[in-house]
Amino acid sequence: MTEKDFISNSLEIANLKEGKFTWKTPSNIALVKYWGKKAQQIPENTSISFTLDACFTLTTLEFTKKKNQIGSFEVYFEGVKKDDFKPKIAIFFERIEKYCPYLSSYDFIITSRNSFPHSSGIASSASGMSALALCVMSLERSLNTKIDDDYFYKKASFLARLGSGSACRSVKGSVVVWGNNKEISESSNLYGIEFPYTIHQNFKNYHDTILLVDEGEKQVSSTVGHQLMYNHPFAQQRFKQAEENIVKIKEILQNGDLKAFANLVESEALTLHAMMMTSNPYFILMKPNTLKIINKIWEFRKETNLNLCFTLDAGANVHLLYPENEKEQVNNFVVTQLIKYCQNNHYICDRIGFGAKLKN
Ligand code: DP6
Repeated sequence: MTEKDFISNSLEIANLKEGKFTWKTPSNIALVKYWGKKAQQIPENTSISFTLDACFTLTTLEFTKKKNQIGSFEVYFEGVKKDDFKPKIAIFFERIEKYCPYLSSYDFIITSRNSFPHSSGIASSASGMSALALCVMSLERSLNTKIDDDYFYKKASFLARLGSGSACRSVKGSVVVWGNNKEISESSNLYGIEFPYTIHQNFKNYHDTILLVDEGEKQVSSTVGHQLMYNHPFAQQRFKQAEENIVKIKEILQNGDLKAFANLVESEALTLHAMMMTSNPYFILMKPNTLKIINKIWEFRKETNLNLCFTLDAGANVHLLYPENEKEQVNNFVVTQLIKYCQNNHYICDRIGFGAKLKN
């Protein structure tokens, strides 16, 4: 599909005066990372993620037919009016208006909450923007009932991408690919797709435990972070490597090679941070406790020969990834040896899940 396929036209808006939709959407953690983008939120390289069902955003979009020319929206987060959330949402609405012209006929109230603490350092833009995009698509579908599920989810992911790149991987599916890689059929720069091949049993019910090493707001926003890849001395090599890693992980997810999985995923996480350390301005987002945890994981893996591995996002927190049949030993390891490195002993346990749900 091309960008033009997502422009809606001739919608019958007169009949719908008011209403509301609620979506619950998950966060996700990238295995091969998106870091670097072009105009219009087009990624420089393909990325792939696991969907984290326990870290979700629940968003309601209430709409009423506009009374005067100037449209408005209000945002409430966890019961409190949040004007500081408005600029990002205003940009989102501006970017999607071309594809959703009916939006200009309504006023909106957006009410949202997260299942995880907002200040925990867990990126909420993926779950937040995907929830909002799905609410918009529910409105579109009630205006145009001919829309089928395939178009509904593709366009929701397309719109979510315009809010936040990684959000397009939080719309549908437990393993999602975003970016055009010729080895992944149907993959696109415009929206995320469910990994289109059979995933090995070893990855069934895979776990992600997030160790909250640093609960503060992010030191580098992702918008600033992506800009660091402009004129980065290693950018082209990195984008090429990411595409190669996509091809490798495509095989790994099908053949269930957990050792190769750990190797690839950890290398991707360290490469992301290496990109930040070698950009200008440069950043070190890991904290001393991040490194302590990483070293503990490597020791643990050597001693036990289990498959626990880590990944990182653009911050100090550590995601522990491990298969279902290792969960007892890993939980024991977390409680006895790793929690002490978390700020306020906080961590979040999660199971890789299936994605967004419409709530009534
Ligand atoms: C390190 O999706 O937050 O988590 O498109 O500017 O909103 P914007 O960026 P965002 O970037 C995520 C970066 C990452 C890697 C990833 O999720 O692939």
